[in-house]
Amino acid sequence: MLRIWGKQPLHGQVKISGAKNSALVVMAGTLLCSDDCLLRNVPSLVDVARMGDILSALGVKIQRQGDTLAIDASHIGQSEAPYELVSQLRASFFVIGPLLARLGSARVPLPGGCAIGARPVDLHVRGLQAMGADVQIEHGTVFASVRGGKQRLQGARIYLDCPSVGATETLMMAATLAEGETILENAAQEPEVVDLANFCRAMGAQIRGAGTNTIVISGVPRLHSTDYSIIPDRIEAGTFLVAGAITHSEISLLSVVPNHLNAVVAKLRAMGADVVADAPDQLRLIPNRQYRATDIKTLPFPGFPTDMQAPFMSLLTLSEGNSVISETVFENRMRHVAELSRMGADITVKSNLAIIRGVPTLSGAPVVATDLRASAALILAGLAADGVTTIQELQHLDRGYDNLEGKLQGLGAKLMRVAGEATAPEPNAVEAAVSAVTSGAPLTGLP
Ligand code: EPZ
Repeated sequence: MLRIWGKQPLHGQVKISGAKNSALVVMAGTLLCSDDCLLRNVPSLVDVARMGDILSALGVKIQRQGDTLAIDASHIGQSEAPYELVSQLRASFFVIGPLLARLGSARVPLPGGCAIGARPVDLHVRGLQAMGADVQIEHGTVFASVRGGKQRLQGARIYLDCPSVGATETLMMAATLAEGETILENAAQEPEVVDLANFCRAMGAQIRGAGTNTIVISGVPRLHSTDYSIIPDRIEAGTFLVAGAITHSEISLLSVVPNHLNAVVAKLRAMGADVVADAPDQLRLIPNRQYRATDIKTLPFPGFPTDMQAPFMSLLTLSEGNSVISETVFENRMRHVAELSRMGADITVKSNLAIIRGVPTLSGAPVVATDLRASAALILAGLAADGVTTIQELQHLDRGYDNLEGKLQGLGAKLMRVAGEATAPEPNAVEAAVSAVTSGAPLTGLP
């Protein structure tokens, strides 16, 4: 459980970690390579560790040193990903494209739905079928093999019904080793898709147009080793920009790519905050005393990211006036509303619309995290609230934020992770503990 003492100003700077949604797919992409690869700037996350376990189960040698992974997929022994590992990580479905392209067959359990939506993989499957794969789904597992006993997939022209990030990434990886040219139309344009394309190109793949809605891949017989650095996490960066705004604190973010955050920065400015780029990889949040209400519609990149919807809702609960959020990417991504309402927010949900009537302040309360980005939203609300907020179910947070509470403590926030019960200890015990955390001295005096 996390305990947060609200209304503390933040100050200073924070370094943003590598992107979860790039690291996971690039790790799967190493299966395409018959040599070893080095991946740098890899965040420390539960999801990254789980992807590592899945690669190891497939026969990949993997070693971590700091934020660098040494991955050797030269001798992958089998093409079946184990259910007990896959069931814990949706992104593990990313191994299907590389395994099929490299080995000619793959068996991967269906990822199933999650807290935010049904999340089918029909676009992945249909695209692989268009490239000459025979795909059967039996007993919850996808069995895929290159049709007609051929060794390699065939290039194809594929139109995606919606610009799915995952389907674009799966098909782009599969096409790198296919015979001939593949054209992906209505492709996703997210920075993580571009990062994956750049990683594959660094291994010798021929890919054009990543970052646009049409990607062209000319297949090659094999890929070679590379040393690649993962892009910074734009969603972690966006979360810290909101942390500065909601606590009315001027803070700086290091190791960011500013134009990955254009939609988020535009909305912060519309609300009355400002964001300046102090250097090509640095952003500074300049707060305001009061924020204006604003409407948000989540969309595929370069639109407003759905992963920032929940964190932004926390800020909108404290703005002046009424805001409307429409969530167009996932059908069940409003579960944080009930918990924010427990903290005094005034929100009405109608199917994928949330109507937020700004309130002067939030009050600390015991709340429960329901998914990864909902966890961040509750932490942000807790930083701004009167009194103490306690957040349960932190396993969601650990999946996708690299030491969020340590970084917030580094900016002066008063929060700490405690085991078990939901009663608040004395503030001076917190003072002692927080200074212990920041000075590295052993933790004593905690209940
Ligand atoms: C990626 O998920 C991210 N996950 C998500 O981040 C992110 O929210 C999402 O892209 C959108 O930006 C990773 O990269 C690991 P989609 P993905 O395929 O690939 C439908 C986070 O918090 N769809 O673009 O699963 C789907 O149901 C996570 O870090 C199909 O219908 O997203 C959804 O409604 C959450 N059929 C929409 O498309 C398909 O075959 C967008 O999904 C595939 C998708």
